[in-house]
Amino acid sequence: MTDKLIIFDTTLRDGEQSPGASMTRDEKLRIARQLERLKVDVIEAGFAASSNGDFDCVKSIANAIKDSTICSLARANDRDISRAAEALQGAANARIHIFLATSALHMEKKLRMSPEQVFEQAKQSTRFARNLMGDIEFSPEDGYRSDMDFLCRVLEAVIAEGARTINVPDTVGYAVPELYGNFIKTLRERIPNSDKAIWSVHCHNDLGMAVANSLAGVQIGGARQVECTINGLGERAGNCSLEEIVMAVKTRKDYFNLDLGIDTKQILAASRMVSQTTGFVVQPNKAVVGANAFAHASGIHQDGVLKARDTYEIMRAEDVGWSANKIVLGKLSGRNAFKQRLEELGVQMESESEINAAFAKFKELADRKSDIFDEDILALVSEESVLNDKEQFAFVSLAQHSETGERPHAKVVFTVAGQEVRGESDGNGPVDASLKAIESHVKSGAEMVLYSVNAISGSTESQGEVTVRLQNSGRVVNGVGSDPDIVVASAKAYLSALNKLQSKSDRVAAQG
Ligand code: KIV
Ligand code: ZN
Repeated sequence: MTDKLIIFDTTLRDGEQSPGASMTRDEKLRIARQLERLKVDVIEAGFAASSNGDFDCVKSIANAIKDSTICSLARANDRDISRAAEALQGAANARIHIFLATSALHMEKKLRMSPEQVFEQAKQSTRFARNLMGDIEFSPEDGYRSDMDFLCRVLEAVIAEGARTINVPDTVGYAVPELYGNFIKTLRERIPNSDKAIWSVHCHNDLGMAVANSLAGVQIGGARQVECTINGLGERAGNCSLEEIVMAVKTRKDYFNLDLGIDTKQILAASRMVSQTTGFVVQPNKAVVGANAFAHASGIHQDGVLKARDTYEIMRAEDVGWSANKIVLGKLSGRNAFKQRLEELGVQMESESEINAAFAKFKELADRKSDIFDEDILALVSEESVLNDKEQFAFVSLAQHSETGERPHAKVVFTVAGQEVRGESDGNGPVDASLKAIESHVKSGAEMVLYSVNAISGSTESQGEVTVRLQNSGRVVNGVGSDPDIVVASAKAYLSALNKLQSKSDRVAAQG
């Protein structure tokens, strides 16, 4: 007998809370579609009451996605819960996720509420939500650092009010596996109506144990839902990584004996989409989705794998979406071949004009780069300028001169609200000169807090993918740009970050 482990993805909510990871509505919608192809059970699409922008994102995702349950986070008050319910109206399957802190520290210092007030608010808000919707999840924020007796009282009460899922967050990543597993087990044993709810784990990775803690919550504690994010994206050191949890449970089915609904072949596409959209690069030695995850450098290992793959490999690269034949298209490929490859990669375009715009970009790239890999296509469709011609800033062209012993100089042409403008500057290097050339016109005053270049498909023939992180008036955004010329990629990334800084944010941060 096996039972099912529910995969609850919170890339678009908790993942997005990572500084600089904020995504536009179209980006979120594209990722939600990929999560649906991945067959995640629940997609936490956002925190509807936090801003009008987040409300729209939850609403669009709720209207577009049919196979996964769509969830919105809400604080434990009537306004947040009503807003979540309103955003979720179009969903085939909807869930409201209420959170309220229960640790002594959070109640006293953050909420400035007594335990009795928290108890009452937890009960009342669950009752209110339950009258609007059948599927309610309750999270005692900082649950793992909460007093056991108090937590039992609160959770028993919210289950009695109709909460169907009880999620126990290790909000600050303080847990260790055995203790966290036993914490969930004790809660389930002590709460008389615990069998009326599905128990869920939500672990942060501050001590690098989010995946281990989540697995212990499942194995020791009996949890049957794991909350996780693609690439482990999330605030500080991130959340539990979806690809690691899923592949651990699948690869060690002999031990966990659990079923999963996930189509693991979609994992890599999801990982790439999230990293290219947010600019959070995946480290090469990252389990499952890192560039080296299936690479064998040592002669002994290579020899062993060639003779019998399972000498050194416990998973098949194809099972998580790595394909052996990576060259897909070139200069002579037509629109149909391009469209078909987009479909195979799970990229859904809204209209024929979007496909035409992407195909024009593809042709432009194929003129400059002989082999077009899957990674190139995914980078190309991630660029907002392909899908969105309403951006404030868009790259046009660049000329730069650098020579040993001379100070580099760059001229950049770009559009601002459709009008072509030029900037010119010197700099320490060609990239510095190009970004200063843009800044000489835009005068954003933003501080650059991160700049990184990554070869999309390995060699110097590949495109460079650049991430630029800018900070301005307390906001942090990431811009991503790709091009075979890394100076151009840098200019595109800078303009993309400026676009994100432009979009206003009136968001209330979730305190998770
Ligand atoms: O980490 C946390 O406590 C959260 C909650 C809002 C569920 O993200
Ligand atoms: Zn969290």
